Amino acid sequence: MSEFVTLHEMGPRDGLQNEPQIIPTADKVALIDLLATSGLKHIEIGSFVSPKWVPQMADTPQVLAAIAPAPVQFAVLAPNMRGWEGFLAARQPDTDYQVAVFISASEGFSQSNLNCSVAESVQRLAPVLEAAIALGVGVRGYVSCVTDCPFDGPTPPQKVADAVQMLRNLAPMQISLGDTIGKGIPETVSQMLETVMRTTPAQALAGHYHDTGGQALANIKASLALGLRAFDSAVGGLGGCPYAPGAPGNVATEAVLEMLTQAGYETGLDPEIIAKAADMAKELRK
Ligand code: HMG
Ligand code: MG
Repeated sequence: MSEFVTLHEMGPRDGLQNEPQIIPTADKVALIDLLATSGLKHIEIGSFVSPKWVPQMADTPQVLAAIAPAPVQFAVLAPNMRGWEGFLAARQPDTDYQVAVFISASEGFSQSNLNCSVAESVQRLAPVLEAAIALGVGVRGYVSCVTDCPFDGPTPPQKVADAVQMLRNLAPMQISLGDTIGKGIPETVSQMLETVMRTTPAQALAGHYHDTGGQALANIKASLALGLRAFDSAVGGLGGCPYAPGAPGNVATEAVLEMLTQAGYETGLDPEIIAKAADMAKELRK
């Protein structure tokens, strides 16, 4: 019997946030609308963050207003209450949203990405989770730099386990584990997961592996072996993080889909539509 693996599409957010040029809103909407017909059930479509920090996501309200209705959960990032208020003002009726919060397992990346310590970032996001849960909006958490930090070097696995616990103490949500700079290898990813899984079950975790070092597929395989069944990827291998030097390239959805299919997993995705979306994503980068 084949097993189901859920893919969370990151292209329109993690992918396009790292493009040096601003992608026109209509092009983002066309990509999201196509992805929404592929069988994907989770698509991250933007961020309510400072437009000075991430100008590529400044049109997130317009994206929410323009995308076609679809049986998909649309995710957005919101690091603080200002972001939550931006989401509240922009959300559309009858749409299933997820608000995602993010912290780092390392202090160096927290300062670079959020301009504050890990503890301060948790304080700022806690009321976002509370407000989302009160309104029945889905929630998700990210922990970045789960194997390596561009500023602090290798991340001790216990720091990741502690960060995951901090978020899950606020809400019993899925936590996506980010290899933000794509430096992880199966050994370090497995060691990190084994430590995290002492306190958090595999079903509550997702793998978010950037492919900078070409190890993302191997890291997904290692995570599958330890029981993870949810992964983040971006069509066309779009992606990165503007505050993590050397972080281009989320793992490509089409490559993950092919690997999973060959290994006998089900995903519910249509490979032809994913291939079309990958072509569209590559065109956007030109
Ligand atoms: P700050 O400068 O410390 O915040 O930034 P502040 O509270 O002092 O506010 C400064 C200005 O930003 C003010 O405006 C605020 O109103 C405004 P001004 O008075 O100067 O005109 N502001 C906001 N504007 C819009 N939306 C908001 C917001 N909050 C404050 N939510 C802040 C703190 C968090 C805002 C800033 O550091 C920021 O926006 N950082 C962006 C972080 C980001 O988006 N990073 C990329 C996503 S995370 C990622 O990619 C990793 C992930 O993929 C997993 C992985 O790979 O590891 C998820
Ligand atoms: Mg990322």
